[in-house]
Amino acid sequence: MRKLLKNIGKVATPVSKKGLYHVEVIENAGIALKDEKIEYIDSMKDINVSDFEDVYDCRGMLATPGLIDCHTHPVFAATREDEFHLRNTGVSYAEIAAKGGGIKSSVRKLREAPLLKLIEALRKRFDEFITLGTTTIEAKSGYGLSLEHETRQLEAIKALRGHPLEVSPTFLGAHEIPDEYRDNRDEYIRIVIEEMIPAIAKEKLAESCDIFIEKNVYTIKDARKIMDAAKKAGLNIRMHVDQLSAGGGAELAAEVGAVSAEHLDYVSDKGIKRMVEKRVVFDLLPGAVFFLGHNVYPPARKIIKKGGIIALATDFNPGSSMTRSLPLMMTLGCIYMGMNADEVMCAITLNAAKSLKRDNVIGSLEPGKQADIVLWDAPGHEYIPYHYGENWVNAVFKKGELVFSKI
Ligand code: NIG
Ligand code: FE
Repeated sequence: MRKLLKNIGKVATPVSKKGLYHVEVIENAGIALKDEKIEYIDSMKDINVSDFEDVYDCRGMLATPGLIDCHTHPVFAATREDEFHLRNTGVSYAEIAAKGGGIKSSVRKLREAPLLKLIEALRKRFDEFITLGTTTIEAKSGYGLSLEHETRQLEAIKALRGHPLEVSPTFLGAHEIPDEYRDNRDEYIRIVIEEMIPAIAKEKLAESCDIFIEKNVYTIKDARKIMDAAKKAGLNIRMHVDQLSAGGGAELAAEVGAVSAEHLDYVSDKGIKRMVEKRVVFDLLPGAVFFLGHNVYPPARKIIKKGGIIALATDFNPGSSMTRSLPLMMTLGCIYMGMNADEVMCAITLNAAKSLKRDNVIGSLEPGKQADIVLWDAPGHEYIPYHYGENWVNAVFKKGELVFSKI
């Protein structure tokens, strides 16, 4: 089936062979689709509209690739606005966590929730991602912390495989130490390595394995062991590192061949150098810095200068970043991290696809790529981070199918 998206005001897209932060703009264009893929992009004056069976009039709108959110925690059973309120009365995120709130409160609620309830909540969250222009996400477990409950989270993701939102699932059994193993953390790590990773890999419930390296959570030594097991099981490696303090996590990510290291607010110069050398994606999460009221953002300018691949993601979760908006991450990237419109655009499309090892399929509008396309009521991609806090998405195509439209 051949379809044409005609009368596009501007196509703005990264181009695979033109560098990490280049956005190509084509004016008055059309995009020809063949089945799920892009066949070609051309100027409207060179396209014969009558060649197509199905024609969609874009009425001068902006077209970009479908956005890619390469770090989310969307499978939770309850929101945590009570903690947000407490934080606004002066209690810190760390104090709330120390009193059994934070990740632990999400774990308690998750364990009580039946699979069907998780699936229904997740379906609504997936719908909302699409309306915000996101067509692919990475989705982590990590609120179960036992084989049964981590599996339940990943099963909820699997149950939604027919949803237009494409998902790359990640096993995050090492997100916290569960309360029942506080005094015997080595035993929990053994269970993660010997029981959880093999079972999850065997059932193909995850593509990647993640860990939270931080004081009082997991150490570099724990991470080496867990990531070694994950690699042996055929999982990609991603890691939460250097979020609240510098801990050598970026250096480790390079050493173990991670696809990405995530957060990196306190990344060291040595860590940047190692990650650049090994082409590990810098998966930066300004939403978490902003929402926790912190003021140390990851050093994007330094990373770009050294040639690092930056992706921006929402970190969508009920505690530290309750948003699905990648356009908002673009704004935060511009304001607090000194990035420009081209850089933030590439960071939520092609560079994010690299962190999911999908950059040969998605992340840019180029012939042969999957037809994941967002139409925006905006004159150019520079407008998206500029007119912030509002949704300018007009229509979304996933694999060539219209999956959301405002009209
Ligand atoms: O990425 N850093 C660790 N985990 C999450 C927070 C999860 C939560 O508060 O529920 C994060 O920010
Ligand atoms: Fe996270």
